[in-house]
Amino acid sequence: MLHDKIMQEKLANLKKNFVDELQNVSNLLDLDKFEQKFFSRKSGEITLLMKSLKEVSAEKRKELGKLANDAKKELQELLDAKVFGLKNKDKDKLAETEAIDVTQPKLPKHLGGHLHPITIIQNKLEDLFTSMGFEVEDGPELESDYYNFSAMNIPEDHPARDMQDTFYVKDHSNWVMRTHTSSMQVRSMQKRDTPMRVVIPGRCFRNEATDPRHEHTFYQLEGFVVDKNVSLGDMKGVLEATVKHLYGKNSKIRLRPKFYPFVEPGVNGEVSCFLCMSKGCRVCKNTGWLEIFGAGMIHPSVLKEGNINPDIYQGFAFGFGLNRLVMLKYNIEDIRNFQSGDLRFLNQF
Ligand code: FA5
Repeated sequence: MLHDKIMQEKLANLKKNFVDELQNVSNLLDLDKFEQKFFSRKSGEITLLMKSLKEVSAEKRKELGKLANDAKKELQELLDAKVFGLKNKDKDKLAETEAIDVTQPKLPKHLGGHLHPITIIQNKLEDLFTSMGFEVEDGPELESDYYNFSAMNIPEDHPARDMQDTFYVKDHSNWVMRTHTSSMQVRSMQKRDTPMRVVIPGRCFRNEATDPRHEHTFYQLEGFVVDKNVSLGDMKGVLEATVKHLYGKNSKIRLRPKFYPFVEPGVNGEVSCFLCMSKGCRVCKNTGWLEIFGAGMIHPSVLKEGNINPDIYQGFAFGFGLNRLVMLKYNIEDIRNFQSGDLRFLNQF
């Protein structure tokens, strides 16, 4: 039989331990462990003490039972108060770190930015050409006169230079802002082995009066293939695949002769007007066709400059005006919008 005095002592110790230990609990996780230690239904210290009541003599059991129950209630209240305190402490902490600063200036709604429409079309074309086995290359915008003109079969003082007037660098007349990405053809050939397939997107510059269709600074995408038995038919296939990729599978291309000193024969490439389905509209000037590229079989002189024997290898080359492709794709009427930095224009894409 458990002596009631011992029982009372046990109860007093338990209360003391409870209060002491509770004081040291500083977070909700530890409080949970603490609660288990004292209130667990199986092995909690309070539960065990209540169970041991049956070992007390019958006449003292009622009195001790009441004492134990009151103590349990009291301890439960202390525990609840602690839970409340800790929960609010965590909330205060959260409020401190996540407080809204009402004095902070309003942030713009849209901070993410997005790709420029020319970059969107350039990426689309790079994906297409790499899927056809082309490498993508970058080239210098400040270019030597040799690569931009002479190597492209446009010798000094030749009237063909008038077709592409450029910006020369003061006191360095051998250097020009490149007028076309064709300037990369010979550079690329000189550092590659045959066969080769390369595309070169990039910025070009021309000294001309600007209007809705002409800018001093614009983008082109050059492409060329050098291999044995390459024909104009291969070139047409690649260009047709390109316009279908951009403007839909019903698009057609039309090639008409055009003189470029670096190709023979040379062509002017047009795509069927997808705005009016070739019926004739303001954009295609009622012709049903839109001019979008220059192309042709690479001139033997250019292959020679690239250290390629024209008796064994042939090649074709093409150059798209990227701005023009984008203008047609998104129905943009003035090329000068691209460089305007006007967010009302740019945010549409
Ligand atoms: C050339 O620049 C040739 N290098 C293209 C070429 C490559 C022909 C390979 C043969 C073989 P052209 O001057 O026609 O060609 O320009 C090609 C495209 O660039 C034009 O169709 C046009 O879309 C674009 N372009 C030319 N000048 C301007 C300009 N001032 N502003 C905007 N786009 C232009």
